[in-house]
Amino acid sequence: MNAIVIYKTKYGSTRTYAEWIAEELSCEAVDVKKLKIDDVLKYDTIVYGGGLYAETINGVNFITKNMEKLEGKKLIVYSTGITPLHCREYYDKMVIEKNFKGDIKDKVKVYNFLGKMIIEELSLPHRAALKTLKKIMSGKENPTEMEKMLIELCEASGDFSDRGAITELVEYAKA
Ligand SMILES: Cc1cc2nc3c(=O)[nH]c(=O)nc-3n(C[C@H](O)[C@H](O)[C@H](O)COP(=O)(O)O)c2cc1C
Repeated sequence: MNAIVIYKTKYGSTRTYAEWIAEELSCEAVDVKKLKIDDVLKYDTIVYGGGLYAETINGVNFITKNMEKLEGKKLIVYSTGITPLHCREYYDKMVIEKNFKGDIKDKVKVYNFLGKMIIEELSLPHRAALKTLKKIMSGKENPTEMEKMLIELCEASGDFSDRGAITELVEYAKA
């Protein structure tokens, strides 16, 4: 297998997963900043990872805007985020809808992993964004399940990364 793992990270969580996956696939993990799309066309299997920011997979347009060039490749995308596992079924579908328009979702296999968010490590704009989101959601009279989940998300702090979670992705990449 001829594979590459590409990642975009702000706080390191997605890079950690990229390194774990690359180790399992015996290939390289490379920061997307160092690559142009033409650099990856020599690989048959392309894994892209990005953290979730307001449900958007960081930098995923590296893949989605280049679907024509990537025709015929095995494309795998993973996100890292801190959405609690009990909300995942609903949430993961939403992430797919938001990030993969039209028939792109049928051409990319998507996995979602728990990542890391340590409040003290966040940039000031990120801390402010979470504070504002929490304020808005907490002010709702009858919050929906989604809104309750967002409040929970704003308060979460910790490293929830789990190497065991990559097994399915690795098996799919190798198959
Ligand atoms: C401003 C902000 C928005 C976020 N939005 C989401 C989100 O919509 N869904 C989610 O599950 N996690 C969200 N997170 C958590 C990050 O996705 C999580 O920390 C991720 O592992 C970061 O990956 P990275 O450090 O590789 O960039 C958010 C974090 C911040 C700071």
